[in-house]
Amino acid sequence: MTIQTVKGENYEIKDLSLKNEGLKTMEWAASRMPVLQLIKERFAKEKTLKGVRIGACLHVTKETSQLCEAWLAGGAEIYLCASNPLSTQDDITAALVSKGVHVFGGKFMDSEGYYRAIGHVIKSRPQITIDDGADVVSILHKLKRGETDEEIEIVREVLGEDSDMIDEVWAGAEETTTGIIRLQAMADDGALLYPIMATNSSPCKNMFDNVYGTGQSSIDGILRATADLIASKVFVVAGYGQCGRGIATRAKGMGARRVIATEIEPHTALQAVMDGVEVMPMIEAAKIADIIITATGCKHVISKEHFEVMKDGVTVSNTGHFNVEINIPDLEQLATDKIQIRTFVEQFIMKDGRKINLLGEGRLINLAAAEGHPCEIMDLSFALQALATEYIVKHKKELSDLGSKVVQIPEEIDTNVAYLKCKAMGIELDILTQEQEKYLSSWRVGT
Ligand SMILES: NC(=O)c1ccc[n+]([C@@H]2O[C@H](COP(=O)([O-])OP(=O)(O)OC[C@H]3O[C@@H](n4cnc5c(N)ncnc54)[C@H](O)[C@@H]3O)[C@@H](O)[C@H]2O)c1
Repeated sequence: MTIQTVKGENYEIKDLSLKNEGLKTMEWAASRMPVLQLIKERFAKEKTLKGVRIGACLHVTKETSQLCEAWLAGGAEIYLCASNPLSTQDDITAALVSKGVHVFGGKFMDSEGYYRAIGHVIKSRPQITIDDGADVVSILHKLKRGETDEEIEIVREVLGEDSDMIDEVWAGAEETTTGIIRLQAMADDGALLYPIMATNSSPCKNMFDNVYGTGQSSIDGILRATADLIASKVFVVAGYGQCGRGIATRAKGMGARRVIATEIEPHTALQAVMDGVEVMPMIEAAKIADIIITATGCKHVISKEHFEVMKDGVTVSNTGHFNVEINIPDLEQLATDKIQIRTFVEQFIMKDGRKINLLGEGRLINLAAAEGHPCEIMDLSFALQALATEYIVKHKKELSDLGSKVVQIPEEIDTNVAYLKCKAMGIELDILTQEQEKYLSSWRVGT
């Protein structure tokens, strides 16, 4: 969909008049993200990020606004675009522009708008890139290699003559599993040209964001899109990884009659079964499912052969990073007609009269139809992103000496975030006594 936008020198968004609504929503988010507020207060005093250009491609949500506020407090110059055409909250873009963030994008933008927005972020010559899905890193590398395709051409149009920006980047950070997989593959091939901090791989990110964040918000997305009942339904999750297990647990809690997972990995399949979740191949699950959601990070998990056996009225959605998990071209080919029956529901009519409901164009449903992860969860993920940014500024030389690798966020940063979150939530921990410390570190003590 092509959307109407308003443009300024350093922004292109949908509607500036949504500013006040956005500012109120930002306040709401701030009150639920205490760890990030602490970091913001410290950044404001220390100004560690003064003058640093950050190019961020993240879902532009109320939670992201709080990460931007922390960066702003530290003195950074921020260029922000969306990491998905459907995940932008337009009130937040307007509020962020009023705060001095350079924002590009709007909800429902088409592919051209999406890549133009990335072009504007790259044009700012970022010193640090922050990605959710590795799109900025990937495009910077394609530009450097002189590659061309439809998307790169859109970016080049924004950049003009000067399209080689990668040498100014110190390092980056990556938010999601799919991004890490893409970047690790680049590093393994020797193709990665600057170091990336793997935010997604830190316990404070993937133990909470992927499991509880995606778990709750994906169900929220399905409900907001359809208003359907989950109790009594046969609920199928493709992939029982971090995200899949969070979704399955919540579907069970809401009374789904059967919760079924599909898997390719034997340990994970066993874990599902021991959690009380049935495991079967998609071709069997597709026959009995009322609701299906993919969470694999893989391609064409649901294809022609699955659509052919699905029940009339089934709901199909995805929460994996890219919209490739459901083979939509297959569905288009099988259907005789398509009706936009609700904002986020396209109903495909099959030759035999069955109806298959596709949610949110097969894009991550929690961000398309709902608001992404709750603030309380993103407090952890974005505290890590804020501290990763500070780490890059303070350690750019060491990172560069390490070479172009995907590196972990130091354990002490991650543990510190966990301690701060416990403190903010009033969770008190026990402390090891000297005797216990000695016991745990000694090999001399036996039975
Ligand atoms: N919607 C969101 O807000 C959100 C948040 C975090 C992660 N993600 C994305 O969700 C996806 C999954 O992330 P994760 O952290 O759960 O990854 P993960 O690696 O923990 O889990 C993926 C699981 O899918 C299984 N799998 C892979 N291919 C499969 C196939 N063809 N059929 C069945 N199972 C298959 C794997 O064995 C694995 O257990 C990624 O694309 C990630 O980027 C989305």
